[in-house]
Amino acid sequence: MNLNCISRKNLPDILCRMPKAELHIHIEGSLEPELIFELAARNRIHLPYPSIRELRTAYTFTDLQSFLDLYYSGAGVLQKEEDFFDMTWAYLKRAKAENVLHAEIFFDPQTHTARGIPFETVISGLDRAIRRGREDLGLSASLILCFLRHLSEEDAFAVLEDALPFRDKFIGVGLDSSERGNPPGKFAGVFARCRELGLRLVAHAGEEGSAEDIRQALDLLKAERIDHGVHCLEDPQLVERLAQQRIPLTVCPLSNVKLCVFPNLAAHNIGALLAAGITATINSDDPAYFGGYVNQNYTATFAALPELGAQEAYQLARNSFQASFMDERMKDGWIRKLDEFFAHFCLKA
Ligand code: ADE
Ligand code: ZN
Repeated sequence: MNLNCISRKNLPDILCRMPKAELHIHIEGSLEPELIFELAARNRIHLPYPSIRELRTAYTFTDLQSFLDLYYSGAGVLQKEEDFFDMTWAYLKRAKAENVLHAEIFFDPQTHTARGIPFETVISGLDRAIRRGREDLGLSASLILCFLRHLSEEDAFAVLEDALPFRDKFIGVGLDSSERGNPPGKFAGVFARCRELGLRLVAHAGEEGSAEDIRQALDLLKAERIDHGVHCLEDPQLVERLAQQRIPLTVCPLSNVKLCVFPNLAAHNIGALLAAGITATINSDDPAYFGGYVNQNYTATFAALPELGAQEAYQLARNSFQASFMDERMKDGWIRKLDEFFAHFCLKA
């Protein structure tokens, strides 16, 4: 589609209104300070912060680990099925308002089972919200269970065992948490088992880690999609492979700046990834902690990078559907809607 007709001044509006999918959102990272305080009161949990404002001001990070410490402690207010429901429902309403038509949502069960919360409590709350989202909002969403890579592979096998009675409630598995010192190869056995079970496979790699971590995720885990992956540009052969094999990257620009992967958005490499032919997408990662949901990620990134215009907006939204695990018919349907959306803007121009 030729989108030269669209002027740059219309971009923020287009980015917010265009249909899109979100493929990299940790549901525990959508827990806003307001909800943390509400759930703490409901569950009689003492928080080490006197106010919502003071909790929010603690959100200054120097690297991934400094964020994870706060993120895991924030998740401690989630105790009951309805807490998991409320958190997920809040995200889905927000996603709907931002014209997200489909979301693939990560959850970290080990963060909860380690505190004695049954797996069933976690997944039942998440699943009930997703069903309601489908019915009341017309938003399709699915769950991806993430293994915490700072824990052992044995622990990952144990949570997989807990999860299997609920196999119909999640579509795949991922790998998250501290990348340094925990290479993908550590989880080759459990990913092989998940593959046998027919689960979809994704992994965080090349966020703080190197191109070699991305290679391991592809070769040793058989990951179908790479979360972040921004360090692939260190390795031209890997870039060619990602482009040729159409392995998508779920990129999270505001997260990358907050966690000091890039000094600012103007230094971000999303434009270079697209120019290299990679199926890159834009996502929010942990929106409550990083200063914005998916539309803020789009608008701030486009404002900072002059090489991104209407063509790239269309490409990123198209990639978000293409890179999803929806069936081909659903993908085609949403992409048709996207085409109509952009055609309408061109007609008006
Ligand atoms: N868990 C939540 N957000 C994460 C991130 N950006 N990287 C790794 N693990 C995470
Ligand atoms: Zn992430």
